Amino acid sequence: MSTATSIPVRSPLTSALSGTTAVLVGGTSGIGLAAGALLRSVGARVVLVGRDPGRLKTAVARVSEAGRAEDPDNAVLGVAGDGGDERTLIEAFDRAGHVDHVLVTAGGMGGAGLVTDLTADEVRAAIDARVQGAFSAARVVANRLPAGGSLTLTSGILTSRPVPGLSALISAVGAVETLTKALAVELAPARLRVNAVRFGRIDTPLLRSVPGLDSDSAVAAAGSTAPLGRVGTAEEAAAAALFLMANNYVTGQLLTVDGGESLV
Ligand SMILES: NC(=O)c1ccc[n+]([C@@H]2O[C@H](COP(=O)([O-])OP(=O)(O)OC[C@H]3O[C@@H](n4cnc5c(N)ncnc54)[C@H](OP(=O)(O)O)[C@@H]3O)[C@@H](O)[C@H]2O)c1
Repeated sequence: MSTATSIPVRSPLTSALSGTTAVLVGGTSGIGLAAGALLRSVGARVVLVGRDPGRLKTAVARVSEAGRAEDPDNAVLGVAGDGGDERTLIEAFDRAGHVDHVLVTAGGMGGAGLVTDLTADEVRAAIDARVQGAFSAARVVANRLPAGGSLTLTSGILTSRPVPGLSALISAVGAVETLTKALAVELAPARLRVNAVRFGRIDTPLLRSVPGLDSDSAVAAAGSTAPLGRVGTAEEAAAAALFLMANNYVTGQLLTVDGGESLV
């Protein structure tokens, strides 16, 4: 890990991400995909990482469309693989040549089930997917990002408002929140920042995979209980991640994007 005494004060507006490169682990769907399109729209280079090659190809095409016709061919790259495996991330960094920011949105509903039904292997798998995935990203970031770079992790408001049947998933995500703060302190001497976005219900393929939420009317009905009266869009969620990438003086923070849901 390199050490540095300072990082430049630069514009904290997301437009300042123009010319930077971001690796998006989980960038082939939902919030990660929306982050890719937003980053391209401000002129950043993007490397999308996801396991399903077909979804990756479609995502690269969609994010490319958010750029400009004169952009170089390598403005959007795709790397197929498990983002929890350091070798996948190293490949993403090598393909990009230079990386400034990493966003990890990879994660699903692994570990769902009542505590009495979960096997030890299922609990371990849920922890591995979230916690080891975040550690893998942290190790690569610590070794490869330049001063001023950032790592943004993902959590959810269920960590403070748990529901029955998700104890393994929620505890894994809670560990990611704690890791965010620990890493922020550990990586600060290298002038690397670590934050997390804590999402409420965001309209993505993941949300719509929840039983009973597979139609527009069901999603609208679910959102009506939030103070702002609806679920969030993937773009609204992704914009919070861009804010954390761009602001050089924010580290160790959990930024909640939930339409006020955690207040009621
Ligand atoms: N949407 C919500 O309401 C909500 C609420 C709270 C928290 N969150 C969290 O926010 C994050 C993003 O959610 P989303 O709604 O955008 O989900 P999504 O639409 O399902 O997208 C998740 C993406 O992550 C990829 N992925 C999953 N595991 C991976 C792995 N091991 N390595 C690489 N890529 C992986 C998936 O592609 P492949 O399967 O092809 O790899 C997919 O592209 C998740 O961590 C989720 O738990 C979401």
